[in-house]
Amino acid sequence: MKIKQSEFVISAVGPAQYPEDGLPEIALAGRSNVGKSSLINKMLLRRNLARTSAQPGKTQTLNYYKVNTEVGELYYVDFPGYGYARVSKSQRQSWGKMIELYLKDRPPLKLVLQLVDFRHPPSAEDQNMYQWLSHYGIPMCVVATKTDKVSRSQWPKHSKMIRQTLGMPGHVPLIHFSSETGMGREELWSLIAQSADM
Ligand code: GTP
Ligand code: MG
Repeated sequence: MKIKQSEFVISAVGPAQYPEDGLPEIALAGRSNVGKSSLINKMLLRRNLARTSAQPGKTQTLNYYKVNTEVGELYYVDFPGYGYARVSKSQRQSWGKMIELYLKDRPPLKLVLQLVDFRHPPSAEDQNMYQWLSHYGIPMCVVATKTDKVSRSQWPKHSKMIRQTLGMPGHVPLIHFSSETGMGREELWSLIAQSADM
């Protein structure tokens, strides 16, 4: 996919700050440090547009990035990660509410990318998020991140572990991605463009 332009738009904490132009939105959910912000940068071919960090808990608001591609415009919405122990309980609850409010009632939302670390079995929170999205019938795909850290011979085993732990039916796509190598970028763009009807 060719990217004509990309820019940070707003850090939103609630609906009053969501953009009102109705462009399709692609949201990213996943535990802290799984690679959400890195994935956005790789998709947009920007080095550090979405702020990344080896320290978990970097992203704390709904961060909107507007992208102009060869086939049209859309937003990526970067979420705070879940499962980060070193934030207060009240902060966790307020993030939870903010994300839930967005996911339950956001007509421009076209697809949620649920990111899981390819190296490990999905956590209890990954399983909850997956169940929750399925329950509300929110269109989603699962993206396995950091695939560059797993040797090729181990891929089938890890893919099976992820599908089984989440209970993914065959029709839900599992995309293998690496922000290091760019693996999966075109496949994910195809799916996004299709979901956003671009
Ligand atoms: P929060 O904002 O805390 O929720 O984290 P995040 O999910 O946005 O993670 P982020 O993109 O900041 O990446 C966390 C760390 O993982 C950084 O040190 C990244 O360089 C590294 N990382 C992310 N994706 C990959 C990948 O595909 N391969 C490798 N090897 N490292 C990655
Ligand atoms: Mg982040």
